Amino acid sequence: MEKRQELYAGKAKSVFETDDPDRLILEFRDDTSAFDGKKVEQLERKGRVNNRFNAFIMNALKEAGIPVHFERLRSNTECEVKRLTMMPVECVVRNIAAGGLCRRLGVEEGIALTPPTFELFLKNDEKGDPMINESLAETFGWARREHLVRARELTFQINDILQKLFLDGNLLLVDYKLEFGLFHGEVTLGDEFSPDGCRLWDATTREKMDKDRFRQGLGGVIEAYEEVGRRIGIDFDQTID
Ligand code: ATP
Ligand code: TYD
Repeated sequence: MEKRQELYAGKAKSVFETDDPDRLILEFRDDTSAFDGKKVEQLERKGRVNNRFNAFIMNALKEAGIPVHFERLRSNTECEVKRLTMMPVECVVRNIAAGGLCRRLGVEEGIALTPPTFELFLKNDEKGDPMINESLAETFGWARREHLVRARELTFQINDILQKLFLDGNLLLVDYKLEFGLFHGEVTLGDEFSPDGCRLWDATTREKMDKDRFRQGLGGVIEAYEEVGRRIGIDFDQTID
């Protein structure tokens, strides 16, 4: 597949067209941002680590029957994906209280959430990714109701698969964000799943092993991502065919 012009450079990834109108290339960069792009740094190896991490999770989800955009790794920092018409909404699931939920509702960090919660946020950095709901999304045309119903159903299926996968590595999947889009009318998981967009705690010590290390200036960010990857069976040195 031939790489063509850059379509979009986001905060962490760049998106390229290809000679196939139905396929894109995602390039994972070392840029790391938090607080809607207000804190930005380069973290060595992050692009490579997140590309591998995402490929591993997407393949696990695909094997479990989830429709995903991921097709194959292309290089250490690139992968080939189906070109989706993205819905500009972020689907957030929480299994344990942390982050925004604690700030917003005054809930104590670390309490188990039963059943897990599901929230929608509008992807809009200038507005600070405000929380929305299905009614607002439908009225303002951000997403169709039936597509959000399907995204929510897939998100909970993904939760079951990933909670087990991480627990096998003695890790708690605290919360995470997913983005969906449409591929020839089918709601399909897009974007990435990596420690940049989720919270993962050591199940024994509750040590934070995700982007909160960057948000809170704890250091050892990429080392923690690599440790999480090793625990769930990722070989970061594997060659790409
Ligand atoms: P944020 O960090 O808030 O998610 P961003 O736009 O800065 O926003 P990046 O990850 O840097 O995020 O950029 C990748 C962009 O590519 C995102 O806008 C994402 O929605 C989009 N994208 C991801 N997968 C696909 C796909 N399969 N087809 C089309 N667009 C995609
Ligand atoms: P949340 O606690 O709402 O936000 P914050 O990161 O400000 O504490 O986020 C819940 C989870 O979803 C967390 O793992 C980060 C992820 N997330 C993103 O990666 N990007 C986003 O735009 C949002 C809203 C959440």
